Amino acid sequence: MVDENRSIHEFDFKLICEYFSGMERQGPGSPEVTIKALSFIDNLTNESKIADIGCGTGGQTVVMAEHTSGHITGIDLFADFIDILNANIKRLNLQNRVDGVVGSMDNLSFQNEELDLIWSEGAIYNIGFERGMKEWHKFLKKGGFIAVSEASWFTEKRPAEIDRFWKDAYPEMGIISDKVKQMEKAGYVPVATFVLPENCWTEHFYAPQALAQENFLKKYAGNKNAEDLVKNERHEAELYYKYKEFYGYVFYIGKKF
Ligand SMILES: C[S@@+](CC[C@H](N)C(=O)[O-])C[C@H]1O[C@@H](n2cnc3c(N)ncnc32)[C@H](O)[C@@H]1O
Repeated sequence: MVDENRSIHEFDFKLICEYFSGMERQGPGSPEVTIKALSFIDNLTNESKIADIGCGTGGQTVVMAEHTSGHITGIDLFADFIDILNANIKRLNLQNRVDGVVGSMDNLSFQNEELDLIWSEGAIYNIGFERGMKEWHKFLKKGGFIAVSEASWFTEKRPAEIDRFWKDAYPEMGIISDKVKQMEKAGYVPVATFVLPENCWTEHFYAPQALAQENFLKKYAGNKNAEDLVKNERHEAELYYKYKEFYGYVFYIGKKF
C-alpha cells in the first residue's frame, strides 16, 4: 500500500528494495565465485573478524559463514535487506558467528586495525572503488585482506552505446590494470584478480529477475515508477547480453601492506 505522505524518493527506494529483496543476490556473483575468492585468503582463524560491506540480503555472507570460522559483520544501508539476512542467519543457526547491521560504508564504526578481512561483492561502487580502498584500509590489521568485486572494462575501447550507458551509471568504471594500480596506491599488495564467469550475470542475476519481474508488474500494474524500474533493469540486461565481451565483474583481492 502506498502511503500518500511519503516522498517520491522514499517510494522509489521502497520499490527498489522490494524488487531486489526477493532475490538471493542483488548483484552478479555466485556461491562458487565467493568460495574461489575466499581460497586466496590465508590468514583466517576462529578469532578472525570479517566485515561484509554492502552485504544486501546476504547471499555471499551465508556462503562465507559456511566456509570460514571467524565472526562476520554484514553491513548494509537498507534495513529490509538486513532483516532478511538476520532471519536467514537465525534459520541456519549461525547467529553466534554472523551479525547483520544497518550502516553506511562511508561511516563505518570499526576500530583501526580491528579486521582481518574486508569483503564487498558488487557494492564498493556506492562509495567508489578508489575511495573505498583508501578509507577502509585503516580498519584492517597489517597483513589483513580486502576482497571486492567491481564492474570493470575488459578493453580500452568499446562501442559508444555501452560506453555511454556505464559512464552515466558508474563514471568510475575502469579497466582492470587501472583498478589494480589504485589498489596498490591505497596500500595493498595485489594478491589475485579474476573475472567472474558469465553465469554470475545470466543464471544468478538476470534469470531470477526475469521471473520476479512478471509478478512485480502484476502487483504494481499502472504504477509508472514500478514499470520504469523493470524497464531499466531489462535494458541493462539486454545491454549485457549484447556487449558482455567488453565488460564484466572482476574480483580484486589485496593484502594490507
Ligand atoms: C549490487 S548490491 C550487492 C549486494 C550483495 N553484496 C550481493 O552481491 O548480492 C549493492 C548493495 O549495496 C548497498 N548499499 C548502497 N549504498 C550503501 C552504503 N552507503 N552503505 C552500505 N551499503 C550500501 C545496497 O543496499 C545493496 O544491498
